[in-house]
Amino acid sequence: MKSDPKTFHVKSFGCQMNVYDGERMGELMAAQGLVAAEADAADLVILNTCHIRERATEKVYSDIGRLRKDAGKQGRTPMIAVAGCVAQAEGEEIVRRAKVDVVVGPQSYHNLPGLVARAATGLPALDTDMPIASKFGALPARRKVGPSAFLTVQEGCDKFCTYCVVPYTRGAEVSRPWGQVMDEARALVDAGAREITLLGQNVNAWTGEDEAGRIQGLDGLIRALDRLPGLARIRYTTSHPNDMTQGLIDAHRDVGKLMPFLHLPVQAGSDRVLRAMNRSHDRASYLRLLDRVRAARPDIALSGDFIVGFPGETEAEFAETLSLVDAVGYAQAFSFKYSPRPGTPAAAIAAQIAPAVMDDRLQRLQAALNRDQQAFNRATVGRSCDVLVERRGKLPGQMLGKSPWLQSVHLLTGAAIGDLVEVELTAAGPNSLTGSPFALAAE
Ligand code: SAH
Ligand code: SF4
Ligand code: F3S
Repeated sequence: MKSDPKTFHVKSFGCQMNVYDGERMGELMAAQGLVAAEADAADLVILNTCHIRERATEKVYSDIGRLRKDAGKQGRTPMIAVAGCVAQAEGEEIVRRAKVDVVVGPQSYHNLPGLVARAATGLPALDTDMPIASKFGALPARRKVGPSAFLTVQEGCDKFCTYCVVPYTRGAEVSRPWGQVMDEARALVDAGAREITLLGQNVNAWTGEDEAGRIQGLDGLIRALDRLPGLARIRYTTSHPNDMTQGLIDAHRDVGKLMPFLHLPVQAGSDRVLRAMNRSHDRASYLRLLDRVRAARPDIALSGDFIVGFPGETEAEFAETLSLVDAVGYAQAFSFKYSPRPGTPAAAIAAQIAPAVMDDRLQRLQAALNRDQQAFNRATVGRSCDVLVERRGKLPGQMLGKSPWLQSVHLLTGAAIGDLVEVELTAAGPNSLTGSPFALAAE
């Protein structure tokens, strides 16, 4: 029998929403009186998993093995909880395969204290329900956060792209109510946030009723947050092209606190591949959408997600992805090799692409994306902008922060974490820039 854990550690493997969930689970454990500890010293280790690609799942099993081995050497047997999307997808299979103490899905982690207590008595503790009542109401209030905070406003996905597990692991699209979101935003600002990134698998599908009972979209929420005293910056991610309303595009022109950055995954440049992916937008409609966004906010930094080697993708179709990249000029992007996910329609397509072909395509795509990222960074040299200071750098007096275009910027300044410092961007490296403050901020 295991005893009640006194210390905990949360390790998050996935997207920003997964990171947000990890923070909330940590707050939940702290509210139970547990103390945060390093992974190699904690009585309870929560592995907050991601199921999006094959390697993510395998990593969890190897992590469990390593954790046990390291703890065993110290004569410890920590309680292990598997949370997140692998927990949702694999459920009891994880208990069977890895004999972990707790399995909890992304929509039921508010039940973690009860599950941990049950596991402490030696009973199996598994909860992968997707309750109608939201977990958010059962979570403790936000207390202490860094200058840049995440706020999940929308969960789940109804789009069913043929390669993707998210609709199965996260469930249907749900929007958190307006009042709940505004309350959490205020709590985050009180807890130290200067920037809030609104999160959702399809965040721009968010909809709700404001205090006056009017139906609002994400743009309405952003406009309300713009009026929140103490909040300096607003971001949102991830968006789906089909939910990109004119109102949201206009917000990029009108709303001062909304940062000039848009992450809008496209996945592929070929219409045949996009159809096979069930993306419900085509190449031309995506490019037209970006034209409208750029018309509203000419300096906007664009970002995307790409999958290479979707089943049946020919060399000519892949070349259309490269030409789309050339046409857009992304400021940054994520690109992945297609990974067949159990239970998704694309995994059953016969024409899977050979690993060597995928490697080659990924390399060529990443070369193009890196080229464009560097070009974007170089083009911002000479611009003046605010940098939100997020942490200390390696050198004395050096701080690290983000530009409005989500670039990492190094600067020498006496300013504190959480300050906005006006700089001129003076040099660009491949992954970060240097900023020179105009005046030393008040200390
Ligand atoms: N809801 C978001 C993205 C969610 S997943 C959207 O649709 O834009 C994040 C990214 O992981 C996706 O955009 C896609 O590029 C990638 N991805 C999802 N499933 C994948 C799979 N089976 N193999 C490889 N990459 C995948
Ligand atoms: Fe997955 Fe597509 Fe939904 Fe994004 S829109 S989460 S890629 S199914
Ligand atoms: Fe991964 Fe789940 Fe996010 S599968 S990408 S942690 S929604």
